[in-house]
Amino acid sequence: MIIKIYDYVLLLWFIVLSINGPSRSLCMSLFTSTRLYVAPFSSSFGNNSDGSLLNPYSSLQQALDHIERNYYRGISSSQRTTIYLYPTYHFVNTIRFHQAHSRTRLTTMKQEDTAFYEQFTAREQIPRRLSRAVISGGVPITNWADLGSNVYKATVPSTILVNQLFVDNQRFSRSRSPTDSSLYLQYDAPLKDPTQARYGFQYVQGMFDSISLDDAMVVVYHSWTTSHHYIDRLIPSNRTILFTNPSDRPIGTFVTQGKRRFHIENICNSLPQNSFCFNNATKTVYISTDGTYNPMDVPIITPVNEIVVLLASADANSPIEDIIIDNVAIQHGAWNIGRTQQADSQAAAFLDYAALYIANATAIVVSNVEISHTGSYGVWIKEGTNNINLMNSLITDTGAGGIRIGQMNIPTHPTNSIKILYNEVSYGGNVFPSGVAVISHRATDVTIVGNNIHHHRYTGISIGWEWGYAPSYTSDVLVQGNYIYNTGQHILCDQGGIYTLGIQPGTVITGNVIKNVFSYAIYMWGIYLDEGTSQVVVSNNVVYNTGWASFFQHYGANNTIINNVFARASLNPPPQPGDDNPDGDIHIGLAESHTSLTFTRNIIYDAYQGPTHSAYKSDPNVIASFNDNVYYNPYATSLLFGSQQTSFAEWQKTGQDNDSLIVDPLFLGDVQQCDFFTVRSNSPAAMLGFANITKLSQWTPGCDIDGESGNRQFYHW
Ligand SMILES: *[C@@H]1O[C@H](CO)[C@@H](O)[C@H](O)[C@H]1NC(C)=O
Ligand SMILES: *[C@@H]1O[C@H](CO)[C@@H](O)[C@H](O)[C@H]1NC(C)=O
Ligand SMILES: *[C@@H]1O[C@H](CO)[C@@H](O)[C@H](O)[C@H]1NC(C)=O
Ligand SMILES: *[C@@H]1O[C@H](CO)[C@@H](O)[C@H](O)[C@H]1NC(C)=O
Ligand SMILES: *[C@@H]1O[C@H](CO)[C@@H](O)[C@H](O)[C@H]1NC(C)=O
Ligand SMILES: *[C@@H]1O[C@H](CO)[C@@H](O)[C@H](O)[C@H]1NC(C)=O
Ligand SMILES: *[C@@H]1O[C@H](CO)[C@@H](O)[C@H](O)[C@H]1NC(C)=O
Repeated sequence: MIIKIYDYVLLLWFIVLSINGPSRSLCMSLFTSTRLYVAPFSSSFGNNSDGSLLNPYSSLQQALDHIERNYYRGISSSQRTTIYLYPTYHFVNTIRFHQAHSRTRLTTMKQEDTAFYEQFTAREQIPRRLSRAVISGGVPITNWADLGSNVYKATVPSTILVNQLFVDNQRFSRSRSPTDSSLYLQYDAPLKDPTQARYGFQYVQGMFDSISLDDAMVVVYHSWTTSHHYIDRLIPSNRTILFTNPSDRPIGTFVTQGKRRFHIENICNSLPQNSFCFNNATKTVYISTDGTYNPMDVPIITPVNEIVVLLASADANSPIEDIIIDNVAIQHGAWNIGRTQQADSQAAAFLDYAALYIANATAIVVSNVEISHTGSYGVWIKEGTNNINLMNSLITDTGAGGIRIGQMNIPTHPTNSIKILYNEVSYGGNVFPSGVAVISHRATDVTIVGNNIHHHRYTGISIGWEWGYAPSYTSDVLVQGNYIYNTGQHILCDQGGIYTLGIQPGTVITGNVIKNVFSYAIYMWGIYLDEGTSQVVVSNNVVYNTGWASFFQHYGANNTIINNVFARASLNPPPQPGDDNPDGDIHIGLAESHTSLTFTRNIIYDAYQGPTHSAYKSDPNVIASFNDNVYYNPYATSLLFGSQQTSFAEWQKTGQDNDSLIVDPLFLGDVQQCDFFTVRSNSPAAMLGFANITKLSQWTPGCDIDGESGNRQFYHW
C-alpha cells in the first residue's frame, strides 16, 4: 500500500518534470524534500509547532507561511515541500498559494501518521475523522435550538449570510415555492416598458403574500439562462413586482422557452423536510430535518468563501509552478450576488470565482481530488496558465457548472495547454442551472478526454466564446472519449450535449458518447455547432436519445462531420398545431455563401413512428456536401431531405448523397434497447467505409431517458 502511494507520487512528479523539459529536471534532482504536518488539534502536542511530525501545525495557513518564510530566506527555492493534512475538516479563509509556494504538494497524511496522532491524543480532542482531508471554505454551525416537529434554528455571526447549507455531507435545498422542485409559478404578464421589464413583472394576486420580501430571491427562467433577483418592492395597485437587480433581457422575451416561469427561494413560512431558510435581519437559519438525527451530532456547514483554494501568482510573468494537490477534498465554496448585480448570463459566466481557482500558474497537477458542495463552478483555470492537469477527480454537487477554462475577454495572459482527463463531473447547476459541466471559453491546446459528465441542467461541454467569425482565441481543443448523459433535464432551452462557438482551427470532437439531452421546451441537440463554428472535425461520436436533432449546425464554415452514429433523435413528443416543429435527425440552419460542412460516412438511425420524418433539414441554399451515409427507419416512415423536404430519390437528383443508402445498417445490438451501436461485419455502412466506434469503458446501456424511470418531465404544450 505504502509503496503504491509512493509510486503514484513519483508518477505525479514525473508528469510535472517531464512537461518542464530535461534541463529543468536535471536541476530538480538537486532538490531536497521537506515534510510539514497539519493537525487541527495540535495544541495538545505543546506550543513548539514547527510543522514536524512531532510538533505539527494546527492550520494549513501556518504550513504555507513556513514555506513562504523559507522562500524569502532563499531556502525553499531548492526545496520541495509536502504538506500532510490530518483527515478532517480544515476550515479556511481562502487559502492562497502564490509564487513563493512553488514546488509544494498538498495531500492527506498517511494512515500510520494518522494513527500516530490518535495514539497520543485524548479521544475527545480528536476532531471528526474523515476518509481524507477536507479543505472547507465554510464554517460549521453548531448552536441548534430545537423548535419541535424536527425544526431547529441557529444564529450565525453578522458577517455570514446563509444561502447554502450542507448537512452531514448532503446539500439541503433552500426552501422554495413551489416546494416541488419540478414545478414553477407563472407570472401574469411581462412589463411593457423594455427597461422596466428587466426589473420585474406583473404577478398574480396573492403570489407574494406572507413572503419576507427582504429575504426572498426570485429566480426567473428565460431560454438558456435564469436570472436571480432580490425584491425591491411590490406595487399592489397594478400587481407589479420590482427587483433591485436586472435580468439580461426583458423578462418575457422568450415566450415558448420561458413560459412565464419563475420560482421564489428562501421562504421561511413553509419548510419542507431537508430544507433551510435564512432571516438576514436576525441572522437566524432554520432547518427542517427528516428526524433521523440530532443536528448537534452531524456536521452542518455553510459556505463563506467563494474561492476556497487559490493557486495564483500575482504576476503572469512569474507564475507559481510545480504544485501537486492530490487525495484531498475542496468543499463549501460560496456564491454571492450583490443586490444590484445582474445575475444572468450564458453559462452563468457572470460568476467571478470558483472553489478552486487557478491563474498565473504552470506545471500544476490536481489529481484524485473531490471538489464538491459549491455555489459557483468547481474549478476555474483562468489567465496566465499553462500546463495545468486536472485528472481522476470528482467534481460534483456544484452550484453552477463543474470545470471552467479560459477567459471571456480577449486574453492578455492566455490560457494554454490545459488537460482535463478522466474526471467525473456530475450533479451541477444546483444554484445556477445554466452552468455548463465543462466549459472552455477562450483557450488554446485544451484536452478534455475520458470524462464522465452527467446530471447537469444545461450543456455538457461548451467550447469557444466568440459569436461569429471574429478571432476567437480558441484553437486545438480535443474533446475525446467523454460520456455525456442526462444533461438538460427539461429545465432550460437552447443547449447541446456538446456546444461550440466561433472559428476553432484544430478542434476535434471525437469518440464521445452523448445520450439523453432534453430541454424544457425547444432547441435541444446532441452536438450543436452554433454561431460561426468553423474548421471543427466531428468524428466517431455516438449520439442518441435527444429531444431534437442529433446534430445541428446553426451557421459556420468548413466543418467536417464524419463516421458518426446519430440515432433515436427528436424524441420530444410531437408538437401541437402552431408550435415550433422539432427538427429531424440532422439540421443546418442559416444559408451562407460558403461551405457549411461536409457530411460523410455517418449512420442516421431514425426511430420516428409516423408517415414521414425529416432526416436532414435545412434552410434553402445551404451549401453542404453529403455522401456515403446510411439512413434508416425501421417503421417504414419515409425520410425527408433538404430544404424542400423531398424523398431520398429527389434529394439524390440534386447531386447529394450519390453513394449513400437507405438501408438497415445492421447494428450488432438492439437499438430499441439502446445497446451500443457497433455494426456487423456485413453492414452496408461498413461497405461505404464506416468504421466501428469504440465503446467507452464508462458507457452504460439502457434506454431510460432520464436515468430514473418515471421521471420524464416532458414539457406538455
Ligand atoms: C500553550 O500556550 C498557551 C498560552 O500561550 C497555554 O495556555 C497552554 O497551556 C500551552 N499549551 C501547552 C500544551 O503547553
Ligand atoms: C404600476 O404603478 C406604478 C405606480 O403607479 C407605475 O409607476 C407603473 O408604471 C405601473 N406599472 C404598470 C405596468 O402599469
Ligand atoms: C444582509 O444583511 C446585511 C446587514 O446585516 C446587509 O448588509 C446585506 O446587504 C444583507 N444581504 C442581503 C443579500 O440582503
Ligand atoms: C495574474 O497576473 C496578472 C498580471 O500579470 C494580474 O493582473 C492578475 O490579477 C493575476 N491574477 C491573479 C488571480 O492574481
Ligand atoms: C473555409 O475554407 C475556405 C477554403 O479553404 C477558406 O477560404 C475560408 O476562409 C474558410 N472559412 C473559415 C471561416 O474557416
Ligand atoms: C454526385 O455526383 C454528381 C454527378 O457525378 C456530381 O456532380 C456531384 O458533385 C456528386 N456529389 C457529391 C456530393 O460528391
Ligand atoms: C464491429 O465490431 C463488432 C464487435 O466487435 C464486430 O463483430 C464487427 O465485425 C465489427 N464491424 C466491422 C465492420 O468491423
